[in-house]
Amino acid sequence: MVESIYPSTRAEREQWIKKANYNLFNLNSDQVFVDLLTDSGTGAMSDQQWSAIMSGDESYAGSRSYSELKASIEDIFGMPYFLPTHQGRAAENVLFSVLVKENDIVPGNAHFDTTKGHIEFRKAHAVDCTIDAAYDTSVEHPFKGNVDLKKLEKVISSNPGNKVPFIVLTITCNTAGGQPVSIQNMREVKSLADKYGIPLMIDSARFAENAYFIKEREEEFRDHSIREIIAEMFSCADMMTISAKKDGIVNIGGFIALKDEEIYKKATVFNILYEGFITYGGMAGRDMAALARGLYEACDYSYLKGRVRQVGFLGKLMDEAGIPVQKPFGGHAIFLNALKFLPEVPREEYPAQTLAVELYKEAGIRGVEIGTIMADRDPDTRANRYPDLELVRLAIPRRVYTDNHMRYVAAAAIKVWERRKEITRGYEITNEAPIMRHFTVDLRPLS
Ligand code: F0G
Repeated sequence: MVESIYPSTRAEREQWIKKANYNLFNLNSDQVFVDLLTDSGTGAMSDQQWSAIMSGDESYAGSRSYSELKASIEDIFGMPYFLPTHQGRAAENVLFSVLVKENDIVPGNAHFDTTKGHIEFRKAHAVDCTIDAAYDTSVEHPFKGNVDLKKLEKVISSNPGNKVPFIVLTITCNTAGGQPVSIQNMREVKSLADKYGIPLMIDSARFAENAYFIKEREEEFRDHSIREIIAEMFSCADMMTISAKKDGIVNIGGFIALKDEEIYKKATVFNILYEGFITYGGMAGRDMAALARGLYEACDYSYLKGRVRQVGFLGKLMDEAGIPVQKPFGGHAIFLNALKFLPEVPREEYPAQTLAVELYKEAGIRGVEIGTIMADRDPDTRANRYPDLELVRLAIPRRVYTDNHMRYVAAAAIKVWERRKEITRGYEITNEAPIMRHFTVDLRPLS
C-alpha cells in the first residue's frame, strides 16, 4: 500500500503540538511526516495476506479461518490450545483473569506497560528481574533482554507469603530497547521455574526478531533455521500471549496459546465474556486468515535480515554522529538515551518527552516516550516512579519505509543534537489518567 505524506512547516507543527497538549498520541496522522510512534499494527500486509483477507470465513463459530490460524500456531509454536483475542493486551486480560490474584508477584524481564497494567490492576505486583547490563545503554551485550537468575530466584524465594502464578519472558524485551533473550537464558529460567513448580509464559510480540538475533548471536544456533529456533524457544514455555500486530504483521489481532488444557478451559469463559466466542475472540475471520499467513512470513530469514538491518542502519547513522542510543541496536526500534541527550532537563520535567517533542517540531517525526511518563506512578504512594532509563523510541513499521526515510530521521535527530545545549527545560503534567497515563496525558512547557 502506498500512502501520501505531507511535509509540514515548523510553524504548523508548533501549532499542532501545542493544540495536542504536547502529547504526540493526540496528533492526527496527517500532521506527522515519518511516523515512528509504533511498529504495532502499522506494518504493510503482503499480497498473500490481502488475498487471504478476501477469502476469510466470517462464520460465528468454527470458521475455516480460525482452523487455519489454529493450525499455523500449533505448527510454529507447538501449542495445541489457542484463543484468539482482538490484540495483545486483551490476551493478557483474559489469561490474567484466570491466573493473577491480589498480592501475587509476577516476575519477568521489564514487563511491557499493558502487561504491568493488567497485573497491577489486579492488585498484584510485577517485579523486573532483567540483567543490569540492560540499563546501561553504552554496554554492548548480545542479550540485554535476559533475566538475571539471581534476582529471579530471590523474588521467588523471599516472598513465601505471595503466590507467583507464572514468570513472564518478553521477547524481544520492548521496554529494555527491543533487546533479545537467549535460548540459554530461557532454558535456565525454565529450569528455575520448574524447580519451584511455576509456569513460564512468553510475551511473544516480537518472537521472530528474537529468533533472528539468536541465530546471529548464539553460537549453538548459528546453523539452525528461524523455524527451528522458534520451536526451541517455545519448547521452554508453558503458555504465550501475543500482540499479533508486531511480528504477526497484521493491523489488528492477538491470541493466547497454551499447552495446559485446564487453564485453557478456564480462559475460554473470560474470552467469551470479554472478547467473543472462542473461535473468533474479537477478530474478524479475514483478519485471522491474514494472521495465519503473517506468522509464517515473519519467520522468513531474508525478510528478518532486511528488517533488522534497516533498524540498525538508522542506529548506525545516529551513533556515528555521537547521539547516545541503546546498543546493540534493537530489533524493532532505535532508542535514544534522553538522560545523555538532554542532561540539562531535570528528571521531574520529563527529558524523554521533551526530546520526543523536539524531534516532532524539528521534522514531523513522531516517536514515543519510554520514560517516567510511561513508567507512571507507584500504585501505593502515587509518586512518580523514575525508571533507570529515560528513552525516546523510534519504532520502525514493518515493510513500510525506505532507507531514505531513515536518512531523513537521522538528519533531523542530528540537528536537534547540535542544538541540545539550548534545551534546558521540559514539561509539567496538567492532566493524567489514574493508570497508563502516557496515552492521554496533557502537558505544558516550562520556561
Ligand atoms: N507486549 C508487548 C511486548 C508489547 O510491545 C505490546 C504492545 C503488548 C504486549 C500489548 O499488545 O498493543 O496489541 O495490546 N506494544 C505496542 C508498542 C503498543 O507500541 O510497543 P497490544
